[in-house]
Amino acid sequence: MTTRTERYGDHIFSHTRADERARLTALAEVLDPISLDALAAPASGPVRRCLELAAGTGSVARRMLDLFPTAHVTATEVDLRFLDAICEDRLEILHHDVTADGFPDGSFDVIHARYLLHHLPTREETFGRIVRWLAPGGRLIIEEPALFSLEAARDETYRRVSLGALRVLAERLGTDCTHWGLDLPRTATAKGLTDITLRTTVPTVTHDSPMGRFWRLTLAHLAPEIERLPGVLPDDTPTVLDRLARPGLVEMGMATVTLTAAKPARAS
Ligand SMILES: C[S@@+](CC[C@H](N)C(=O)[O-])C[C@H]1O[C@@H](n2cnc3c(N)ncnc32)[C@H](O)[C@@H]1O
Repeated sequence: MTTRTERYGDHIFSHTRADERARLTALAEVLDPISLDALAAPASGPVRRCLELAAGTGSVARRMLDLFPTAHVTATEVDLRFLDAICEDRLEILHHDVTADGFPDGSFDVIHARYLLHHLPTREETFGRIVRWLAPGGRLIIEEPALFSLEAARDETYRRVSLGALRVLAERLGTDCTHWGLDLPRTATAKGLTDITLRTTVPTVTHDSPMGRFWRLTLAHLAPEIERLPGVLPDDTPTVLDRLARPGLVEMGMATVTLTAAKPARAS
């Protein structure tokens, strides 16, 4: 059973933190090209209504406007701080908690959510709700992290601290970076989706790569909690943060699993 002591954004990864916009911008730099590839795949029908869930800084929602030039795009978030200044024709920004707020069944032709569900203890049920919001013939794109590449990292200290960060998230938020991402095809099949494809990407971590910046900001934020974990040595976290700030370390970053799936045209 998943337990947690707080929700995403209560303390951990709050959008009020000075570095949070930079952290999410670095993540977008790593993942936007992958998300856009998935979104650009030919659609089975016209795309008139798109949903970007948990839009963060809004980078994908804005690109949806270019990819689907006649579509109405809805971008949702529980914290609108990084979206407030965005004002575009055809883009609606909505305060919306994916676990509690709904949309009518069949509302969207394309739905995208990135790095959201693994943080939510009700991820499986929420996935089912999202599938209902998809129109028959519509396309779902879900992108989630997976930690196997960190388990395989050659640098022992980097590996210990990186896996420690994910243990902190599991204990505090109920985050699952172990099974959820890799199980997405099974979850999608169980919810009746078809035409499933899976792309897995493992970006490089160096001091100046986008994944390196994202990971250094993530580890720096979680450092006090990582240092308290059994098995993590007192110098481990400062050592890794220092090595991530200078040329030298070249390692695998966290993997991202990109699932695309379709809702059968005649589904009820
Ligand atoms: C790791 S960030 C990813 C942001 C964006 N999807 C991206 O990949 O660039 C997770 C985002 O989910 C939002 N979030 C967390 N819980 C949410 C919920 N229950 N409903 C909607 N958004 C949520 C957070 O505010 C945060 O912006």
